[in-house]
Amino acid sequence: MHQDVAKVLLDEPTIQAKVRELAARLSEDYQGKCPVLICILKGAFIFTADLMRHLTIPARVDFMAISSYGNRTRSSGVVQILKDLDRSIEGEHVVVVEDIIDSGLTLTYLQENLWSRRPASLRSCVLLDKPSRREVPFTPDYLGFQVPDEFVVGYGLDYAGLYRQLPYIGVLKPEVYQKHS
Ligand code: PRP
Repeated sequence: MHQDVAKVLLDEPTIQAKVRELAARLSEDYQGKCPVLICILKGAFIFTADLMRHLTIPARVDFMAISSYGNRTRSSGVVQILKDLDRSIEGEHVVVVEDIIDSGLTLTYLQENLWSRRPASLRSCVLLDKPSRREVPFTPDYLGFQVPDEFVVGYGLDYAGLYRQLPYIGVLKPEVYQKHS
């Protein structure tokens, strides 16, 4: 697995320090409230778990599964809800937690979809941003890191379902995905 990684972009201590920083900001901004974190499966499950562990305020979590990529490296622009929330978010303070924003299509779609459910507030917390790939404008409210347009895996991010368990974020060797495309 590690031999498929060309270089480490963000190592484990760097990611963990950023997650603690984001959790501290959320804890301050949502003081006196009990936000609902919406973890967008599958990529955000590790980020959401770490983020939630560092919150000092009460919070709930719910999950949505969205499909836009399949096994391909480029966004098709087609967003499909594979698993919806278990509970209503009407009147709730909602934070959408994502691993990466690329074209912006997923978060744009989600924002519109979730606002229609009448939450009290709605913000996004995104670990990685690839601004050079944006097709629709979207600025996350809370952001971890901007990354270059490289094929990143690890800390929840996959290629063909693999590499999610890496504790760091690395760049995949091109030969790994070129042989499948
Ligand atoms: C990734 C990521 C976002 C989306 C971002 O999900 O988790 O949901 O793509 O891309 P966009 O800004 O171009 O819309 P993916 O479809 O790879 O699914 P996964 O999280 O299950 O790996």
